[in-house]
Amino acid sequence: MEKRNRTGRALGATVVAGLVLAVTAGSLFGQVGGKVSQNLDSGEQIYKSACVACHGPDGTGTPKEISGFEPPRTFPDFTRCDQTTAEDNWAWKAVIVHGGHSRGFSRIMPSFREALSPEEIDQVIGYLRSFCRSRGWPRGELNLPRALVTEKAYPEDEVVVSTAVNARGSPGVMSHIIHEQRFGRKNQIEVDVPITFQDENHTWYGGIGDTTLAVKRVMFSSLQSGSILSLQGGVLLPSGNRARGFGTGTTTFETFVAFDQLFRTKTFVQTQFGADLPRHTQISPQSIFFRAALGQSFAADHGLGRLWSPMVEFLADRELVDAAKTDWDVLPQMQVTISRRQHIRGDLGVRVPVSNTAGRSIQLMFYLLWVWQDGRLNEGW
Ligand code: HEC
Repeated sequence: MEKRNRTGRALGATVVAGLVLAVTAGSLFGQVGGKVSQNLDSGEQIYKSACVACHGPDGTGTPKEISGFEPPRTFPDFTRCDQTTAEDNWAWKAVIVHGGHSRGFSRIMPSFREALSPEEIDQVIGYLRSFCRSRGWPRGELNLPRALVTEKAYPEDEVVVSTAVNARGSPGVMSHIIHEQRFGRKNQIEVDVPITFQDENHTWYGGIGDTTLAVKRVMFSSLQSGSILSLQGGVLLPSGNRARGFGTGTTTFETFVAFDQLFRTKTFVQTQFGADLPRHTQISPQSIFFRAALGQSFAADHGLGRLWSPMVEFLADRELVDAAKTDWDVLPQMQVTISRRQHIRGDLGVRVPVSNTAGRSIQLMFYLLWVWQDGRLNEGW
């Protein structure tokens, strides 16, 4: 009895959904015809005619009893600022133009390439943005491509495995496993565990280095001016073996300011300036560092496809002791999105010491990063 009831309800839901979809499709075909689109002069009207059946009048999503589909785990609730503000307009535009599958999302999300003009899509995105009512969330456009060394100002939900290999001199490999997680509107915690392998006289030694625990906070961000400023403070715990050269043997406080600027041409500059302040300066001196990454993003398919970001970093380190010289390195590199959803990316570069080069080898550097907020590792391909 109960079973039949449920089947009945499911059938009813499917019929309603079919009607809703038919109406939606009808209105879309109407727009292809050209007449309807002239009347759709605002993002709100476009949304109400083309999107509301699935995304709901309030942007939270239509209940599945009405929409007829089981909402995917990643189905957006446009009122959730924590989920929407990290998405940039290009990502949304790609999904609206080419459909969900173009970014490895559900095919239920249709393509509106034929039905809506690029301007109309921009308008409806503007309307989607109005569903998030609270202010102060840094926008995803300011989440610039991550450089190999320079830390960015934007708070992230990601895991990065970053590796440097000595290309000359004593063989050595150092990896960092970095976990970053946002909390609140503007904050992020970071845990960075370095793992080192070193060849000493044909014997390889491996071990963890000094682990960093840190908190970052966005102090200022503006989509209009394309700028974002953050402060980070943290500690490096002496978890690395000092005798092997894996750690400093003392707790170190590290603090920095990061300022990033994005220009309209998708050119960007990321800068970071900070200090390492060990507790016992007799075993590890204080130092200051300055890092900058200059880059340019190019995306296939008029900005909607795979993203390539060539960058060059300029890295300076100086110990605060008498007669210390500054270590300067340059690091040309290329970051590229690997998954269609762009939540998995790789970066490859060569770090070249240019001053004070004694004992400092050229290094091959690369990372793989995963923005876990945007989907599981096996999703989005
Ligand atoms: C037939 C139902 C349906 C219609 C109509 C529809 N959508 Fe969607 N949309 C979906 C589904 C389902 C998803 C979730 C896909 C997933 O997460 O796998 C989605 C996801 C999205 C996303 C999120 C992509 C992301 O990055 O998370 C955006 C943006 C979006 N839709 C915008 C629109 C707009 C704008 C319209 C109207 C022009 C529209 N949708 C019409 C079903 C629909």
